[in-house]
Amino acid sequence: MIIKSAEFLVSSRLVEQCPASQIPEYAFIGRSNVGKSSLINSLTGRKNLAHTSSTPGKTQLINHFLINNQWHLVDLPGYGYARSSKAKRAQFAGSIMQYILHREELTLLFVLLDSRLEPQQIDLDFITRLGECAIPFALVFTKSDKTKQRELDKNITQYKTTLLAEWETLPRIFITSATTGMGREELLVYIEEINRSLH
Ligand code: GTP
Ligand code: MG
Repeated sequence: MIIKSAEFLVSSRLVEQCPASQIPEYAFIGRSNVGKSSLINSLTGRKNLAHTSSTPGKTQLINHFLINNQWHLVDLPGYGYARSSKAKRAQFAGSIMQYILHREELTLLFVLLDSRLEPQQIDLDFITRLGECAIPFALVFTKSDKTKQRELDKNITQYKTTLLAEWETLPRIFITSATTGMGREELLVYIEEINRSLH
């Protein structure tokens, strides 16, 4: 898919404040610092569309971007940011879950996982939760440029094994790097295919 236009629309604290819409919507979720905002910039080819930072906890609101005047890309706050207060973490988790459960236009959720790490409990718990709520999702491994092939294979295999203990089938899995652009085209093609299937 060619990105002809990508524009920031609005930041919202609550799902009720998100823009009224009838177009397909794809959201990026994952732990703080996993690379959600960076991947959005890589996908859209706009360096500073979503704000990134080496310090976790950068994205604090639900950010809507309009792509090709056809679909929304949504940058969500990360979960599990250890240095925010417990109350703030709970508030974040609440608003993210509200968005995921109640945003009718949400077509698919991309769950980002750090390709350098073996399966993390917090991510597995989150994925289980999505299953319980029947939220469609795909898995996206990030920062592949920072991971040796052997390490990457090992971590992904471990994820698959762990998931297959609970799930009958595996979700779509993408391996990406915001730095090298790896996986970018595959992700965009996937989104395009879904958009087409909705017509
Ligand atoms: P929060 O908004 O805090 O939840 O974080 P986020 O998930 O949006 O992460 P962000 O995109 O801000 O990236 C976090 C850090 O990881 C930044 O320093 C990025 O430059 C770096 N980073 C993100 N993606 C990649 C990648 O693919 N490769 C490399 N090498 N670094 C990356
Ligand atoms: Mg972010």
